Amino acid sequence: MQGTIRFCFLVMLAATFTGLAVSLNNGLARTPPMGWLAWERFRCDLNCKDDPDDCISEKLFLDMGKRLSEDGWTKFGYDRVNIDDCWPAKERDAEGRLVADPERFPHGIKWLAEQLHGMGVKLGIYEDYGTKTCAGYPGTMDHITTDADTFASWGVDMLKMDGCNSNISTMDTGYPAIGDALNKTGRPILYSCSWPDYERARHMDVNYTFIAEHCNMWRNYHDIGDSWQSVYTIIDFYGNASNYELFGKVAGPGNWNDPDMLIIGDFSLSFEQSKAQFAFWCLMASPLFMSNDLRAISDEAKTILQNTEILAVNQDPLGVQGYRVHQYNNHEVWCKPLHDKSVAVILWNRSTGGMHSKITVQFKQVGLPASGNVTVRDLYEHQDMGSFSGSYSTYVNPAGGVVMLKLTPVALADRRAAEAYVL
Ligand SMILES: *[C@@H]1O[C@H](CO)[C@@H](O)[C@H](O)[C@H]1NC(C)=O
Ligand SMILES: *[C@@H]1O[C@H](CO)[C@@H](O)[C@H](O)[C@H]1NC(C)=O
Ligand SMILES: *[C@@H]1O[C@H](CO)[C@@H](O)[C@H](O)[C@H]1NC(C)=O
Ligand SMILES: *[C@@H]1O[C@H](CO)[C@@H](O)[C@H](O)[C@H]1NC(C)=O
Repeated sequence: MQGTIRFCFLVMLAATFTGLAVSLNNGLARTPPMGWLAWERFRCDLNCKDDPDDCISEKLFLDMGKRLSEDGWTKFGYDRVNIDDCWPAKERDAEGRLVADPERFPHGIKWLAEQLHGMGVKLGIYEDYGTKTCAGYPGTMDHITTDADTFASWGVDMLKMDGCNSNISTMDTGYPAIGDALNKTGRPILYSCSWPDYERARHMDVNYTFIAEHCNMWRNYHDIGDSWQSVYTIIDFYGNASNYELFGKVAGPGNWNDPDMLIIGDFSLSFEQSKAQFAFWCLMASPLFMSNDLRAISDEAKTILQNTEILAVNQDPLGVQGYRVHQYNNHEVWCKPLHDKSVAVILWNRSTGGMHSKITVQFKQVGLPASGNVTVRDLYEHQDMGSFSGSYSTYVNPAGGVVMLKLTPVALADRRAAEAYVL
């Protein structure tokens, strides 16, 4: 108990110090990057003849760029469209350069980047550290400099580097070499690495401090699929205290753990579970890449994904990754300290009994004073719940339901109100 009680506060102190550590210095991802990524929803659909709207083609990425820009997503911070696997032709050109599949990307990637940039949207691309990508397209192995130069010349803004078909024991030199090649192009390219996930899967020791020196974000765990089971397992993995020790503490401006895409707006999650995925990804300071069909997304899903109070938790400049502080039966309490000394909290009800349950957050558990009043705001209800001393309890729906709160010590709120008044 003693160990967990002041955890949120200790993490906050630790974050202040890790800020001094060497980390990738390309000026990018100072807060978790946001946008849209094709893989979970559109996979490697090559059938443009029968399925022209959903196949991996320039049309798909232009459509999503238009939706981001015209439907206002960019105003909320979702300003990236990312291509995943299956975009290149099966062969490199005579100079050894990657080329986009000429039938599915007739105008090429440079043109696509220009179109998206014109809409205020950045373009991300995908490659693989090995000899071939996971889906069997040309890999970057032996072409590192050429590929970095090609991406920069096309105006690409982000690179997701997968790890199939490679010798995993060489990743500790290979991934940094790719990062160096990106740096040498002179174009700031956000670097997303699958490196630690491959090492973890091989039961190798992963040095996350080292990874943070070379990557802006990295995948720790399995690919997400369209199921609550998948989301639930990922949350559990990140909540594991020894995992937090291993990689949660490394997160901060410029460096993020990536639990994979948001599947809100797809087929599997209930409304409560959709709220849960969003709440956890925001609390964990995760990159927010939606993988859904923005051309046909429900208002319900949109409301969750565009919740500005919860997005502010994700984008909080302190950049601390949230953590599980309490687990009792199927009830959990998680917290994330914020730059203004308030704390974001999730109350999670994992029970499948069908009834809502009352869950309590003890203020001491999340690093707030045990005595003295704390104001509680519900971030999904957009409602001030009042001011409380010691703890706050509320009912949380079952089957993965969450209540997400922001707790602010009253003395601090009063001081801020007074300062605002003076200004
Ligand atoms: C993989 O790389 C390691 C480290 O360089 C090397 O010792 C090993 O022989 C390589 N394995 C294969 C199958 O190439
Ligand atoms: C390359 O690395 C240097 C040293 O960390 C950094 O100052 C510079 O901004 C980087 N440039 C790019 C384009 O990433
Ligand atoms: C992990 O990487 C950091 C940064 O490169 C290094 O200082 C440290 O010695 C490494 N730790 C281990 C156990 O190799
Ligand atoms: C938590 O992480 C440790 C260390 O990686 C691992 O041994 C353990 O199985 C994990 N537990 C869960 C529940 O994921």
